[in-house]
Amino acid sequence: MDVPSLIKAPVHPATAAAALTELWSPRVVAEFDDYYVKVAKVLGSFTWHAHEHEDELFHILTGRLRIEFESGPVDLRAGDVFVVPKGMRHNPVALEECHVMLIEKKSTLHTGDVVTAQTRSIDEQLRGM
Ligand code: NI
Repeated sequence: MDVPSLIKAPVHPATAAAALTELWSPRVVAEFDDYYVKVAKVLGSFTWHAHEHEDELFHILTGRLRIEFESGPVDLRAGDVFVVPKGMRHNPVALEECHVMLIEKKSTLHTGDVVTAQTRSIDEQLRGM
């Protein structure tokens, strides 16, 4: 049986993130089951939002990222993995350029329950690198 398309080439999230030219614009680098693996290059303050039904996993590739919660901030550094629990309002803030890998359900909207100038559709996130 000829099903080569089932096997994808390996991806290197750190290289993919470094190649991005637009800030806060996630790109899908892999998918499995109901999840997307995305990379993003971020700097500055994003936007306060929540994902009512989905947890959101951050893996910091380079730099540092602060995730502000109403109860206070959580500071992440390269190598850290951190999960924002579903329903919890948060705002990512990068005081220096930060490259991040995200694992999210395919249903997750990256700006959650708000729409801003930074909101990117899933089609935009699926664009080739
Ligand atoms: Ni979020």
